Amino acid sequence: MHLTKEENEMLEGKLGYPAQKAMEILVGLGECYDAERMIPVTSVHLTGSSLTGAGKAGTDFIREMAEKGGKFVVLTHTNPLSIDPCSWKEIGMSPEYVQEQQKLTDAFSRMGAFLCNTCTPYQIGHVPLFGGHIAWGESSALTFANSVLGARTNREGGASGLAAALTGRTPAYGLHMDQNRYGNLEIAVTTELNALHDYGTLGYFAGKIAQDRIPVLTGLKGSLGWDELKFIGASVATSGSVSLFHVIGVTPEAQTKETAFGPNNRKKLETFEFGRRELAETESSISKAEGREIDFVVTGCPFVSIREFKKISGLLAGKRIKSGLEFWILSCQLMKTYAGKMGYLNPIEESGAKVICEVCPSSLPREFLKRRGHKTAATNSAKMAYYMAGSQNILSHYGSLERCVDAAIHGFWT
Ligand code: F3S
Repeated sequence: MHLTKEENEMLEGKLGYPAQKAMEILVGLGECYDAERMIPVTSVHLTGSSLTGAGKAGTDFIREMAEKGGKFVVLTHTNPLSIDPCSWKEIGMSPEYVQEQQKLTDAFSRMGAFLCNTCTPYQIGHVPLFGGHIAWGESSALTFANSVLGARTNREGGASGLAAALTGRTPAYGLHMDQNRYGNLEIAVTTELNALHDYGTLGYFAGKIAQDRIPVLTGLKGSLGWDELKFIGASVATSGSVSLFHVIGVTPEAQTKETAFGPNNRKKLETFEFGRRELAETESSISKAEGREIDFVVTGCPFVSIREFKKISGLLAGKRIKSGLEFWILSCQLMKTYAGKMGYLNPIEESGAKVICEVCPSSLPREFLKRRGHKTAATNSAKMAYYMAGSQNILSHYGSLERCVDAAIHGFWT
């Protein structure tokens, strides 16, 4: 790889041990992918901020980098934790575990991280520029950044993200390069999508087919906002390892079919229809729970926007959730503060639902919810249904927010 003078100095240890270790990681990664050079990045979104995400070895490495004076040289923000700093007691976490998480968070803080602990950093102002190179982890966030914002990032893991934050560099390969950003299959949408989770269902369908390719969605009607695109992105990156999708006429690199497919226009590309049948079949395939009784409802995967807060608040106003059942609304502190200012929190809290901040079931300790006695969940997020099964060993019903709220009130899925 060609390295600049400064990058070589980092590699030789002239800029300190953490920058040297970080550059070694990036050069190794770059060589694996035949990158010819490094590119400067303007921001990093770190996934190793939870104990479960970092693991024991990762936690030790992060703390070592902080102890040896590592400093983040670009804006670096953090993904959710393994605890809710405000209601850890209420949800039954041990003080020892909270302390362990705090040590990890302190290490990130010493290195200069922006501790927003959210999977939707773009909702609180961390919006990279179109065409800007970034190094983001968290599949839903990086897919949003690539697809909706037109920034450029690969799927960064804990180590490569940390290394990018310590050096301000990432190897030039994959989605940083123009030629790798064109669509290579079409998902033709022929049905109307009404609820937010329908967009998640579409994303799940597209991701399953695309796997590591770049799907181009055509035929979507109506005005799509960030929430709809957020739901597509989270699901497409769950059922496949998609990190970029295009929507014709909506996402910035897909104003026309020609720009979305680029040179691939000349090839014969596969097209898959997503109609009423596919919508219904995909929705029912995501819904894995049996029996109608529910004891846990979760929404906010990815973390809720202010628009979702408003909707949830309206649906819960004057209602009471069933005793013994938990309804978690996942958020970050900043969005919760805004929801409070807007008057959305009171109806939620009066109903007995909880706004849980900076943590989600997939970043909690494995089977934590199961050990608390939860058996069956309901969610409007395809990604959450997937992770509730994988990390909490709890199966979910999947459907609209209205159905989830109804399930929270009555204790069963209708
Ligand atoms: Fe966010 Fe957790 Fe979902 S990190 S995207 S709420 S699985």
